[in-house]
Amino acid sequence: MRILGIETSCDETGIAIYDDQLGLLSHQLYSQVELHADYGGVVPELASRDHVRKTIPLIKEALAAANCTKESLDGIAYTAGPGLVGALLVGSCIGRSLAYAWNIPAIAVHHMEGHLLAPMLEENRPEFPFLALLVSGGHTLMVEVENIGEYQVLGESIDDAAGEAFDKTAKLLGLDYPGGPRLAKLAEKGVPKRFIFPRPMTTKPGLDFSFSGLKTFAANTIAKEGKDPQTQADIALAFQDAVIDTVAIKCKRALKQTGLKRLVVAGGVSANESLRSQLAVLMKSLGGEVFYPRNEFCTDNGAMIAYAGMQRLKAGHFEGLGIQAKPRWPLDQLLSVRSKI
Ligand code: KG4
Ligand code: ZN
Repeated sequence: MRILGIETSCDETGIAIYDDQLGLLSHQLYSQVELHADYGGVVPELASRDHVRKTIPLIKEALAAANCTKESLDGIAYTAGPGLVGALLVGSCIGRSLAYAWNIPAIAVHHMEGHLLAPMLEENRPEFPFLALLVSGGHTLMVEVENIGEYQVLGESIDDAAGEAFDKTAKLLGLDYPGGPRLAKLAEKGVPKRFIFPRPMTTKPGLDFSFSGLKTFAANTIAKEGKDPQTQADIALAFQDAVIDTVAIKCKRALKQTGLKRLVVAGGVSANESLRSQLAVLMKSLGGEVFYPRNEFCTDNGAMIAYAGMQRLKAGHFEGLGIQAKPRWPLDQLLSVRSKI
């Protein structure tokens, strides 16, 4: 079976073709970073309009790159949420309409399920069950994963998501959007432990996160200590260390609570090299294993949507003629692939 995946939930147009026998046949990504850079963040209306311009041409390119025709497709998966409603509507209208025209099923995919399953596109894939730490720009979730669609959310951010905190702190440091990777680059020049930031919500029991206080701590430190380049790098490193240490503490706690030995880390912030290496060290010390998507599939992409859509299609989960676009969509509302609809 072969599927086309369409991702348009935020500021990336991602298109991919996945075959359940042959694997990923092609994937195309168009990032809107330059479009939003002048505004210091994503402008939803501009994002929607750009998805309108890019989605169809990228679908044509993805089909050509995979050397396959539309007749070889068995379904179309599109991101139905969570995300920006206008941006979601572009992908869902195009996906649903093409599926109607080509007489194949359309599958509404949950964006975070896409992130969660992205490591399945790698050679070293985790077996079920596992613990998943999802750290993206919009969400921070700790999830116990029994199978596809069997998710128990053990913890989440009560304010800013991890990626959002990276982006806001980067802005305070005068870095351009998107700040996360730029802050990580700046942190490479930082002097370790010159500043020590708090590890929020680690002294209380529980698995929820709170990152907005770190941003305030950074703002106060910048105001007090001046803004010379070395101090900025030291602050960037202190912030990044605090985020990584906090998620590592919570992962350790969740692994203990669930008795799980496999950890999946996905979502944009999982592209962070320090985070990847520190969680690898943690899992080694606990006698477990950590699984990541390759770097380009940590951030938003069409491949993860095509993969997740394929699993749903194989389970017989697809939509009627309605167009699905759900800006808010709790992950634990999804159906298990083991259940029939
Ligand atoms: O998953 P994603 O592409 O989009 C959402 O679903 O939100 O995540 C984007 C987030 C942004 O906040 C971005 O700054 C952050 O991931 N990010 C990083 C790195 N690469 C991307 N944060 C820290 N270090 C990185 N290397
Ligand atoms: Zn995402």
